[in-house]
Amino acid sequence: MDIYLLGYMGSGKTTIGQLLAKQIGYDFVDYDQFISQKENASISDVFTAKGEIYFRKKEALYLKELLKETKTKKIVSLGGGTPCYGNNMQDIKDSNVISVYLNVPVTELTRRLWDEKSQRPLIANQESKEALEEFVRKHLFERSFYYNQASKVIKVNGQNESQIVEEIIATL
Ligand code: S3P
Repeated sequence: MDIYLLGYMGSGKTTIGQLLAKQIGYDFVDYDQFISQKENASISDVFTAKGEIYFRKKEALYLKELLKETKTKKIVSLGGGTPCYGNNMQDIKDSNVISVYLNVPVTELTRRLWDEKSQRPLIANQESKEALEEFVRKHLFERSFYYNQASKVIKVNGQNESQIVEEIIATL
């Protein structure tokens, strides 16, 4: 069964997804890249040129397409917001896939995101680390409702990347 990784921006979906795919011999799909290719533009450019609502519509549309694609075995790292809009989480649950939520504490997410915020349109304008942390805390609180509907939840708290990969494999 395909495995879909869910979690907030900076939770390690891409890094863990790539390692996991390599370890179990599945293909790897980064969902942001998938959308970028379809739209022929970076995610930041899509947000700037067409706006967030356009992005969310396309995100939902291409997700249905990807969930139906079962020819190859794959690990998919979703965008941080993907499970939280429209009917997306229900679509994931109705499909024959395993969903795994990488649950990372707010302070750790903030630490990781502070240095990379420019590539992420939703947080690019946060002016201090404290403001970013406050934003992430509220945003994650709202989104947790969706993330926690995943079939597996991995609590990330100090484990290294290969330990997290092993934890995921152990639940399969
Ligand atoms: C978003 C997360 C991003 C990307 C877009 C919106 C979000 O993906 O899809 O910028 O709403 O959390 P990552 O979680 O891979 O950064």
